Amino acid sequence: ETSLKEAFQNEFLIGTALNENQIFEIDSLAIKLVKKEFNSITPENCMKWMFMEPEKGKFDFDTSDRFVAFGKKNKMFVIGHNLVWHSQLAAWVPTIESPEELSGNLHNHIKTIVEHYKGKIDGWDVVNEALNEDGTLRNSIFYEKLGDRYLVDAFKWAQEYDPNVELYYNDYNMCNPEKRSGAIELVKLLQQNGAKIDGIGMQGHWNLEEPSLKEIETSIEEYAALGIKVMITELDITVLPNPWDLEGAEVSQNYENSAAMNPYPNELPDSVALRLAKRYSDIFQLFKKHSDKISRVTFWGVNDGQSWLNGWPIKGRTNYPLPFNRNNRPKSAYDSIIQVS
Ligand code: XIL
Repeated sequence: ETSLKEAFQNEFLIGTALNENQIFEIDSLAIKLVKKEFNSITPENCMKWMFMEPEKGKFDFDTSDRFVAFGKKNKMFVIGHNLVWHSQLAAWVPTIESPEELSGNLHNHIKTIVEHYKGKIDGWDVVNEALNEDGTLRNSIFYEKLGDRYLVDAFKWAQEYDPNVELYYNDYNMCNPEKRSGAIELVKLLQQNGAKIDGIGMQGHWNLEEPSLKEIETSIEEYAALGIKVMITELDITVLPNPWDLEGAEVSQNYENSAAMNPYPNELPDSVALRLAKRYSDIFQLFKKHSDKISRVTFWGVNDGQSWLNGWPIKGRTNYPLPFNRNNRPKSAYDSIIQVS
């Protein structure tokens, strides 16, 4: 009997994201699976700004301490996710008017958290999703008030408060050529301004066709050429239709009970399970080919039942994006990944 982490032990770390049920070890079956299969963990939600510093200067480490302790106890590579993001931000942050004050708040947020976990967290997603699809910088509260210096500051502060921790930039659609150019510019901006960046996290929120293997490969190669590690973070392959693909469609609650948008409410047909297994096999073959560049592959969630893709971008769907089913049993996708190794 083997496991994902053993199968790829000479290639890269195999990670998963933990939610509250797992962090507090309520979900014992999922926890058993996590210990057996994975050697890296990322907190799905508990380290985001709205939970870490819900009120200005008031930090809550309860859940995140449990998360980190679980990782240390099980000798896992522990990821902090994340320090700076426009989403799941505390409501008080965007009300700050003055740039100096906002910069001070950002500094204090990073200092307090990074210092708290100094020597315990192995890698930080310092900045998450700072780019638009066209490769320009997203007009978040941070960019609007501070310009691109917030990126350099964030990485420098993170390094200052834990000089040995790895520092990453993490984003989605990182295989899209325009966004990829923007990400490369972002890394160069950091490097040219003397900020340390150790790696790029390519969120793998992909589907059965896109991005193409070619686009993924080009992206891995171009990011690695910057002299940094490449990680596939947040990997999950949706098998459901994308509402944004519908002509003129608006993402709305109207889809909630739509058969077209929720085609497999009870089980995944074999034909689709086969396509999913093939897709996982293809991408893991590619990852293996480039294992000299890839340091970690992290799935976004432990099993299908707990995946965020059951609720996003439309609520109440039944999705099957991960290698483990709702009973924490390996699927054909799991077998096909193991076969690659
Ligand atoms: C998601 C979580 O999985 C959900 O539970 C939460 O409601 C929203 O955020 N990009 C990221 C992750 O960097 O933090 C997001 O996680 C998914 C998209």
